[in-house]
Amino acid sequence: MKKVKNKKACPPSLRSGVSGRGFVDVVVGLQWGDEGKGKNIDELLSHKVYSGVARFQGGANAGHTLKCENKTFIGHIVPSGCLQKNIELYIGNGVVVDVISLIKEISELKKLGFNVIPRLYISNRAKLVSYLHPFLDQAEEFYRNNKGEKKVGTTLKGIGPTYADVRARRALLIGDILLPDFKIKERNLSEFHKNFLNMYKKKYGFKFSETEIKKAKIKWQSAIKKLKKLQICDVSYLVQKRLKEGKNILAEGSQAVMLDIDFGDYPNVTSSNTLPANVSLGLGVPHTYIQTIYGVIKAYTTKVGGGDFPARIKDASLEKLFQDAGGEFGSTTGRPRMCGWLDLFALRYAIGLSGANKIFINKADICLTNKIKVVTGYKHAGEKLKEFPLYLNQVTDVVTEEMPGWGYANYGVRNKEKISLELSSYLKYVENKLSDLDVKIVSVGTGPDREHFFNWND
Ligand code: GDP
Ligand code: IMO
Ligand code: MG
Repeated sequence: MKKVKNKKACPPSLRSGVSGRGFVDVVVGLQWGDEGKGKNIDELLSHKVYSGVARFQGGANAGHTLKCENKTFIGHIVPSGCLQKNIELYIGNGVVVDVISLIKEISELKKLGFNVIPRLYISNRAKLVSYLHPFLDQAEEFYRNNKGEKKVGTTLKGIGPTYADVRARRALLIGDILLPDFKIKERNLSEFHKNFLNMYKKKYGFKFSETEIKKAKIKWQSAIKKLKKLQICDVSYLVQKRLKEGKNILAEGSQAVMLDIDFGDYPNVTSSNTLPANVSLGLGVPHTYIQTIYGVIKAYTTKVGGGDFPARIKDASLEKLFQDAGGEFGSTTGRPRMCGWLDLFALRYAIGLSGANKIFINKADICLTNKIKVVTGYKHAGEKLKEFPLYLNQVTDVVTEEMPGWGYANYGVRNKEKISLELSSYLKYVENKLSDLDVKIVSVGTGPDREHFFNWND
């Protein structure tokens, strides 16, 4: 495709915070993850308004795809500003760090021509995912299944077990690796974990291989050695310092509102608070610094893992069409993502919880059918629900509205004037449905590249 220099998507205003202080903006997914947050973060950072980008929750369960100048990088733990030179990268205290993934990503980035080491800062209070956490994740999924419950369908990256250790006050902190008693702490925790694994084995028949555990331990220990050479510091202090210097920071949400541990479809959620409210706690900055909240959605919806999905496309062959056209396979696990229509009922819930005031809509190029649907309400036993249900399995039917689709017509379009009539009507329709909320659609994605978008509201 011919390279056309695009206008910047929704340039963040060069406003400064109170008395010359900087501010924190947040990017959050408003669906079930994989909305294209990585792409939007990368694009926002190119405006030179932010001096750094920070992860504040989650871990290597995330998979954020960045594409530019024929380069593709999927970040699981390294923040999405890695393909932007001069942007500081922070991993906050709220993150559970998969050290093997971290070291691998740093080396992949080096091969792509980006040495991120001098600008990467890892909180000494971030938590360490141990080599046994992924095994415990597997064991817990096995146990759920064994009890006749449905699996959560986790990414098996050890996220739940690590956060469980955090809450039980026995987790290893990143800063621990630099202290003399790290080996003892690690040994004690590993013994505790092995007791659990043996319990799952003896009582429930969970199988694990000692050889695999040994291999994982060696890899983990080697990664820890490399981690010691990176910049481990008090990220909260550093970010506060930058803000006082008048610099602005972008907080990078992972997962999405519908996977939030408190407000998602529990227990089919991740183990952290994904909401922007957690930026303050997961980074160690007062919430008064937070300004704009960018919410990211797709023009349709996807979900990977267990749990109910009311907006799912019922016709399997049509769902497959979206899956293939949208490349809907997990960036972390490669699992096929379920595809559904845009769910305005869930979206309104997510906007209410997150406070998102600017919306990015991605994948507006993918719409293969003549007719598409939008979910506008949920029903339980024939009654329309006024509030979001406690459990999504209480939804027995959905209310939908139908409208014309637009095929592939909008791929790569970078100018609002050049989009198809059907897409334009769709965007106006969505805008209208959200008009009572304090929210604006600012830009629309028409392809995977940083430059693939058009501004909707400037
Ligand atoms: P994230 O987890 O929210 O960062 O999203 P992922 O990277 O897991 O998944 C989004 C996928 O959609 C990636 O493969 C992106 O390259 C791709 N993508 C993002 N925006 C668009 C878009 O507007 N159109 C198309 N066709 N692909 C997009
Ligand atoms: P990004 O940041 C989509 C889902 C898993 C599972 C549930 C719990 O790329 O949008 P976990 O491993 O966190 O304990 O799994 O959450 N999940 C995601 N789904 N995108 C993600 O991240 C996800 N991270 C976790 O599929 O259903
Ligand atoms: Mg993803």
